[in-house]
Amino acid sequence: PEPSRVDGLLAEMTVPEKVGQLIQYFHFDLPAGASTDGGPEFDAAAQPRGAEAALDRGGAGALLFVSDPAAVNRLQARAIEGNRLGIPVLFGFDVIHGLRTIMPVPLALAASWDAGLIERAQSVAAAEARAVGIHWAFAPMVDIARDPRWGRMVEGAGEDPYLGGVVAAAQVRGLQGAGVGAGSGRILAGPKHFAAYGAALGGRDYDEADVSEQELWNVYLPPFKAAIDAGAANIMSAYMPLNGVPATGNRWLLTDVLREALGFDGFVVSDANAVRDLATHHFADGLDDAGVRALGAGVDLEMAIADPAFDRLVAAVESGEVPIERVDASVRRILGAKERLGLFDRPYVDEDRARTVLADPSHRAVAREAAARSAVLLRNEGALLPLAAQDGGSIAVIGPLADSRRDTLGPWVFDFDLDETVTILEGIRDRAGDGAEVSYARGIAEPGRLFPSMFEMFAGGGPAAEEDFDEDAEFARAVAAAAAADVAIVVLGEQQDKIGEGASRSSLAFPGRQQELLEAVVATGTPVVLLVMSGRPLDLVWAAGSVPAIFQVWYPGTQGGAAVADLLFGDADPGGRLPFTWPRSVGQVPIHYAATRSHDPKNRHRRYWDDPSSPLFPFGFGLSYASFEYGPLTVDRDTIALDGTVHVSVDIANVSDRAGTETAQLYLHQRSGSSARPLRLLKGFRRVRLDAGQSATVTFPVGPDERRYWSTAAREWVLEPGAFDVWVGADAATGPGAEFSVSR
Ligand code: IFM
Repeated sequence: PEPSRVDGLLAEMTVPEKVGQLIQYFHFDLPAGASTDGGPEFDAAAQPRGAEAALDRGGAGALLFVSDPAAVNRLQARAIEGNRLGIPVLFGFDVIHGLRTIMPVPLALAASWDAGLIERAQSVAAAEARAVGIHWAFAPMVDIARDPRWGRMVEGAGEDPYLGGVVAAAQVRGLQGAGVGAGSGRILAGPKHFAAYGAALGGRDYDEADVSEQELWNVYLPPFKAAIDAGAANIMSAYMPLNGVPATGNRWLLTDVLREALGFDGFVVSDANAVRDLATHHFADGLDDAGVRALGAGVDLEMAIADPAFDRLVAAVESGEVPIERVDASVRRILGAKERLGLFDRPYVDEDRARTVLADPSHRAVAREAAARSAVLLRNEGALLPLAAQDGGSIAVIGPLADSRRDTLGPWVFDFDLDETVTILEGIRDRAGDGAEVSYARGIAEPGRLFPSMFEMFAGGGPAAEEDFDEDAEFARAVAAAAAADVAIVVLGEQQDKIGEGASRSSLAFPGRQQELLEAVVATGTPVVLLVMSGRPLDLVWAAGSVPAIFQVWYPGTQGGAAVADLLFGDADPGGRLPFTWPRSVGQVPIHYAATRSHDPKNRHRRYWDDPSSPLFPFGFGLSYASFEYGPLTVDRDTIALDGTVHVSVDIANVSDRAGTETAQLYLHQRSGSSARPLRLLKGFRRVRLDAGQSATVTFPVGPDERRYWSTAAREWVLEPGAFDVWVGADAATGPGAEFSVSR
């Protein structure tokens, strides 16, 4: 960066020009023919007009939702020509799990427990985004989610702050690489939504979050800290009130915590319309007050759909209500980001090169690997999987999601290529080739789409009408196909529009008649493999007792069907592990492994009388086609000093006749302290690939970083002496244990 260029510009800029840099406008511009999220064609004439007018008067710092390189160049020229000082505009976009090549959804990537893979997946997303002219991703979403009713769980890394931190840092490294200058193929990362957005009351998106101090510091903030330490350039503020104060107007949160305690020095963007929403929250007294208070709290850039509240900052500066130094500090951060991107020197993109990058076949290979590594095998009775070569055999593929390209991609994608997308049916057909007869029946109609797409919200229109469909006849056809086959593969779950922003649920049941279809197929007696396409845990209680093989395949992306076929036929070993605790029922929610014992466990009163209090599957759970055994745990020292480190080791043996990958997980428990300590906390993990019969020793350090926590009693981070338990195992419920102590 050349700070002198930023200083020089600042010295020249008028107040309206400065304020203009602090506003980001919606403007939809996708390549011609790009799908509009399954909805009707986007009508460009119907989009908000604010962006173009702002560009023409030199008053827009950033745009969002432009991914057509020709449009990027056109709008960039308009920005530069419209701006007296030739300042280019920044293009941000929701590049959540890929741009053209769609990776598995973020929750799935987290289930890979593979930081290197996640980094590679996001570097592909960055390369494609940068090639078309996008400079900045509104990603990663690092919100901890402990309530699957909340639809945005699909965008994060699940329930655990340690895993969440590892995944957050890997995503930032993948997006930003070693630098984001022109030609880098990298983009700015924007972890979101600061903070505790996932704690929405009742799982209802945008509802208030009331979280305790210890929960905020120990659970919700660590993934942000990890992302900031990895160099994240941007942070997005959340919509909802946190402990009574809207996050976007919360000075304590955005300044004291974010900048001072977490050391963030990049720029803060509000969530879309969140500044205007300060008035909706009965917090700000109208839009003038909303703008002043958001800026005062620490927001640098207002993301606005229309009529930005920040427009009013010009008058607030002129009246003396807002010091110009505060505006300058934010302008400096925005211009600094543009400088860092090399935008002043190379504002335009090469459209031919963009086409080449988007078509790069190596991107699809990463997507296939990521989808295969993130699927979680939940049950495999009688080693039904992997399927044999199926010579002469028959496979019935059943279910409304088995051949839906759009649903295979999942939510939060805009610029995808449906022709390049492989459904599960297509993947199975390709892999089975002539060796097996593959039949297909949808079984039931897809329930109609729930929500308008982003485009429909602006362009109007609504869910496409369902085609004529005789559901009873199709249901019977599916059951007959299953009865006639050697194996039935049933693909169920939630359509992609039923998860994500604004898609909360009060139930975790399979929507529509899916459960009925599953039970009817199982009743045929044909062995069944259930593939669940979802971004939250659905109700699998019946299936876990009645369906021999169950795979959680998430929304696996562009290469999803090919990857699922790799797994079903044993070309890939299932390596995914659950990034959350799988509840038995929605009534158990929230349920997470890192609970604190609050009563004698023998006392029945803390339990539900109508359901066990244990989950269906523990956090960290997932099967392999291989099987592993853990030896006894050893610690290299019985006692260490407060700043000391103990090393914990265990031998893991692959006791099967095939190669596989085990994810060894280290859990820690502090037996006493100034606050009550959770029964277990994940503090490390290692993926180990072992050939048949092979063993390996894994060793984890447990030092101050692993033992430090935020104590409510002390109101600070503490390291405390005392006795500790440690376990290494295959999930949060198992593993050999050992103990050590920390002296004063
Ligand atoms: O990035 C998103 C955010 O996560 C939710 N509200 C809209 C933004 C822009 O699409």
